[in-house]
Amino acid sequence: LSQAVLLSIRHYCKKTPTKLRVSEALLGAEWGAHVKIQGWVRSIRHQKVNLFLHVNDGSSLQSLQIVAASHLNDPLLTFGSAVEVTGVLKESPHRKQPVELEADEIHVIGECNPVDFPFKIKERHSLEYIRQLPHLRCRTNAFSSLLRVRSEATTAIHSYFKENGFVQIHTPIITSNDCEGAGELFQVVPSHPENEEDENFFSVPAFLTVSGQLHLEVMSGAFTRVYTFGPTFRAENSQSRRHLAEFFMVEAEISFTQCLEDLTRVMEDMFRSATEQVMAHCAEDVDLFHKHVTPGHRSIFRVTYSEAIDILNRSSQKFAFPTNWGCDLQTEHEKYLVKHCGNIPVFVTDYPYDLKPFYARDNQDSPEHTAAAVDLLVPGVGELCGGSLREERLDLLRARYLELRHFGSVPHGGFGLGFERYLQCILGVDNIKDVIPFPRFSHSCLL
Ligand code: 4AD
Repeated sequence: LSQAVLLSIRHYCKKTPTKLRVSEALLGAEWGAHVKIQGWVRSIRHQKVNLFLHVNDGSSLQSLQIVAASHLNDPLLTFGSAVEVTGVLKESPHRKQPVELEADEIHVIGECNPVDFPFKIKERHSLEYIRQLPHLRCRTNAFSSLLRVRSEATTAIHSYFKENGFVQIHTPIITSNDCEGAGELFQVVPSHPENEEDENFFSVPAFLTVSGQLHLEVMSGAFTRVYTFGPTFRAENSQSRRHLAEFFMVEAEISFTQCLEDLTRVMEDMFRSATEQVMAHCAEDVDLFHKHVTPGHRSIFRVTYSEAIDILNRSSQKFAFPTNWGCDLQTEHEKYLVKHCGNIPVFVTDYPYDLKPFYARDNQDSPEHTAAAVDLLVPGVGELCGGSLREERLDLLRARYLELRHFGSVPHGGFGLGFERYLQCILGVDNIKDVIPFPRFSHSCLL
């Protein structure tokens, strides 16, 4: 080939570098390739003849090291700015960072004034501090890792249900029912009613859903195994470390379920399978956290509510809330039970009938009046999942619920898992506000 053709090929190659994500560049398979990456500057260091940058684009915990000759420096190239860098991928002399990009061009795409930028280079910021910056906390290592894990866990949960023959149902966000009967509802009304008619938009009071369960129950009457995974709302005036006003719930409903054992098997399988997938696909991100549980091979421990009460009453620990039979288990009790069972997840079954919502099935043959209901308690969090066999016997149901049970009703059961609590549990995160992109809780709706 003539020199001119070679030059134009080189020119063409230079003009069209391969666009790579940082995670792809770090794989090290493209040494010698002319590439372009885009991202945000995580660190910047000037040496005599060179400039060293770390650029992160959210595709991995690791940033890519850029080495550039000093003349490529730009006064706008600062910590936090968005850049586009082209250059050649090289093997790096540093063991920790096997690949680096030798830059031939750097463009600042988005400026970032380092004086106003609330993060400072090389400073560690507390979770409380970054929580106040909902528009920027995704640029920190810990929160970006967490959101990648959250995304993977979502995929893992959908995969579990797909592989096990469940049909996904989009249950409504706006509903007229209070499934849990606890009255913790946000009412939906038009923001600018022009007349009284508009105020009554749905003709009945309408609310944001507290649970998709009743809609799922309807669907399980045709598809046998159904699930939903979406936002759920509770007007709980709580500032606790495990309550939000908007959280995501994974709910499943299974027809022809005769006993709690059938239900707990699905809960356990889902928990184990999703957690294994997350640990396998996001090892580096997960390693940043201290984790309360790993999937493990032991089956989840089971105790009845009555046994749990015995355990609490035999303990030497002083509890703030009463522990007599019939009392609801409080967080302090749940945490004690988990510890007592060896700091592993534990199922508590057969709660007093009066403690559970109207849909839970009455264990009519039990000496104490219990319901076929189960909670899954996990280390660090307490209640992660609540489920029950559903009352399908018409004579035992109250009027409003009857219509759902009229035509070909079968024994069935289901459960709901709080997705944020699941993330708290597998990552060992203390506060639920730190596992959701934009937390909503009483007196807080930032951004
Ligand atoms: O126990 P809950 O209220 O059960 C239900 O809503 C059932 N209808 C679910 C079903 O059977 N389909 O909620 C289920 C789970 C809890 O175990 C908890 O993990 C989570 O949802 N949860 C919350 N998570 C964050 N903030 C809140 N305010 C929560 N309330 C419940």
